[in-house]
Amino acid sequence: MGRFTPHRATTQNALNGETAAGLRMSIAFLLNGTPVRIEGEAPTRTLLDWLREARGLTGTKEGCNEGDCGACTVMVTDGSGSKALNACILFLPQLHGKAVRTVEGISGPKGEMHPVQAAMVSHHGSQCGFCTPGFVVSMAVAHLNSARDHDDQLAGNLCRCTGYAPIVRAAEAAASEAVPEWMTTDRAAVASFAAGEPGVFQPSDSDALADWYVKHPEAVLVAGATDVGLWVTKQLRDLRPVAFLNGVEDLKGIEVQGGQLHVGACVTISALREAVAERLPSFGELLRRYASVQVRNAATIGGNIANGSPIGDGPPALIALGATLHLRRGDEMRSMPLEDFFLEYRKQDRKPGEFVAGVSFPERADALRCYKISKRFDQDISAVCGCFNVTVEGGVVTSARIAFGGMAGVPKRSSSAEAALVGKAWTEATVEAAAEAMAGDFAPLSDMRASAAYRMLTAQNLLRRYFHDLSGVPVSVLEVTP
Ligand SMILES: Cc1cc2nc3c(=O)[nH]c(=O)nc-3n(C[C@H](O)[C@H](O)[C@H](O)COP(=O)(O)OP(=O)(O)OC[C@H]3O[C@@H](n4cnc5c(N)ncnc54)[C@H](O)[C@@H]3O)c2cc1C
Ligand code: FES
Ligand code: FES
Repeated sequence: MGRFTPHRATTQNALNGETAAGLRMSIAFLLNGTPVRIEGEAPTRTLLDWLREARGLTGTKEGCNEGDCGACTVMVTDGSGSKALNACILFLPQLHGKAVRTVEGISGPKGEMHPVQAAMVSHHGSQCGFCTPGFVVSMAVAHLNSARDHDDQLAGNLCRCTGYAPIVRAAEAAASEAVPEWMTTDRAAVASFAAGEPGVFQPSDSDALADWYVKHPEAVLVAGATDVGLWVTKQLRDLRPVAFLNGVEDLKGIEVQGGQLHVGACVTISALREAVAERLPSFGELLRRYASVQVRNAATIGGNIANGSPIGDGPPALIALGATLHLRRGDEMRSMPLEDFFLEYRKQDRKPGEFVAGVSFPERADALRCYKISKRFDQDISAVCGCFNVTVEGGVVTSARIAFGGMAGVPKRSSSAEAALVGKAWTEATVEAAAEAMAGDFAPLSDMRASAAYRMLTAQNLLRRYFHDLSGVPVSVLEVTP
């Protein structure tokens, strides 16, 4: 909890919050190795639009314009390393002081092919070619980062005609080739790049954010923009004033203290996944299936909680873990059990000018299991996400936390099922009774992802699956054999 409290350190944002909303944007970044400065653009102009329309860099493609297809993938480098991101839902100020490499910068200065490009040619990884630039950038970033989990690395890139096998074969073939020298220069260049003030409100610490937001409670906070980006690209909304949270360093930390993980609101899903992969493997596996590499590299856990979506994947797992949410307004902090934050559909217990500072949850929970049910294995939103954390001592259930996404207007605990378990013997009969009781907790919707009846039966079956899972019966659908 300590890390989320006001610290009032010497750091002050150079911008005066009173005037920030009216400032003229003036951001700078390195584009394929060359410094560029952009002045006077709307702060919500996307990198994709700017690259194609203002710079004529049309190698970066527009497919879906909502983060789903990866055709617009670019490499972005900052002090924390190089990442693949979707340019269509990246606002220009999010790039201030960083280095951007588009597909035009993936080949060498004299036109030399990058090893992944050469492998795509020799393994016939391209047909119509529309998806190819996005694939090539994702593959080049994975190659730079020595990532060998090619299926996961490429899950956010869609190809309609070639099929994935030749593309994955190309990624495998390129893996043993050396990283070209030109791909390694951005990190050092960013470290010595003086970008100046961005001319938009982009605080460098949470004190500055707290001061400003209390004076501008109508402002839109932009963290990873994986939701907010779509308000602009799909709903054509004009968002002002905006505050960009990507520079708030003290909300990017993950600390272990007293058996709890304290995770700052601006921690990305990628960083969270890394932190929980060994401690809470089932949560880590759930996050592997959270959108795609590009989205996970941008999306934050604070945004995932604050948006209050009933189908977000973070909240059910965190609620099952018994997480505590930390909110801040000015110098006031308050904390609450995460489930209490979600009041009703898209309505959260958040006051004007208050923001999510972080979330704390147990570092270990051996009985935690998270099951995501979606139509597509990768890069899909949950129809139902069920998370279970039941403690059994001497054959008797001593505590139970069961939380679902996709079953109500908010992420919600199944209190009747929990009550039907606690104090009872952990047997199939008890689980059946709890599954029956669960029906009283939810009245799910029918929508394009699933019918109400499917959702209800699935939720009950997930509890049955959990029982077998804890008993050591293989339950992974990926391992089902005839
Ligand atoms: C292609 C695609 C696939 C996706 N797949 C999944 C998925 O599988 N599972 C899933 O759960 N989600 C998924 N999402 C949704 C999205 O990634 C998440 O909700 C994400 O975590 C939002 O975080 P962000 O940092 O991008 O938030 P933003 O878009 O920046 O903000 C989201 C909302 O939260 C507010 N906000 C942000 N930070 C704070 C803060 N600290 N305090 C108060 N308010 C804040 C913003 O003002 C806004 O209202 C997907 C999105 C896309 C585009
Ligand atoms: S255009 Fe589809 S992810 Fe950006
Ligand atoms: S090569 Fe045509 S979409 Fe991939």
